[in-house]
Amino acid sequence: MDALIERAREVLAAAHVPYSEYRVGAALRTADGELFTGCNIENANYSNSLHAEEVAIGTAVAAGHQEFDRLAVSSGVRDGVTPCGMCRQTLAEFCGDDFTIICDCGDDGVATYTLGELLPETISASTLTDAADHERPGSAGEAGASDTRNQHD
Ligand code: THU
Ligand code: ZN
Repeated sequence: MDALIERAREVLAAAHVPYSEYRVGAALRTADGELFTGCNIENANYSNSLHAEEVAIGTAVAAGHQEFDRLAVSSGVRDGVTPCGMCRQTLAEFCGDDFTIICDCGDDGVATYTLGELLPETISASTLTDAADHERPGSAGEAGASDTRNQHD
């Protein structure tokens, strides 16, 4: 079995899921080969719940890593769960379109995706720098008299 999937399965045991009872484990490999894992941690205030992928990425970033090689995700029922939209965006902060995500499908093996497949056309740092260029006085996009973007009645 894929070693990274194995680590994602191991961390399922630590998941705190009294509300959904749906365990998720994630294992993230850094560009230099270190492994960081995370599990979902639910909260009585549901919206405070942490996702397994967030915990894995957060732990890795806190340890000084910002370059990643691949991510494995597993749920307790091995249903091929993929990172949710929020986690895809969190990954996109550090990982490019070709970043590999492998999802545990149990007896059916794994489903493999790239981040670009799961989250095409994402907002990124370059979106903001491009926008800043556009707004800078004297740039082609400078707001002028004919620009109605910020006008209100
Ligand atoms: N969950 C994750 O941990 N990762 C995802 O990206 C999908 C959802 C968790 C959140 C919640 O604890 C449970 O799965 C059910 O949504
Ligand atoms: Zn998520």
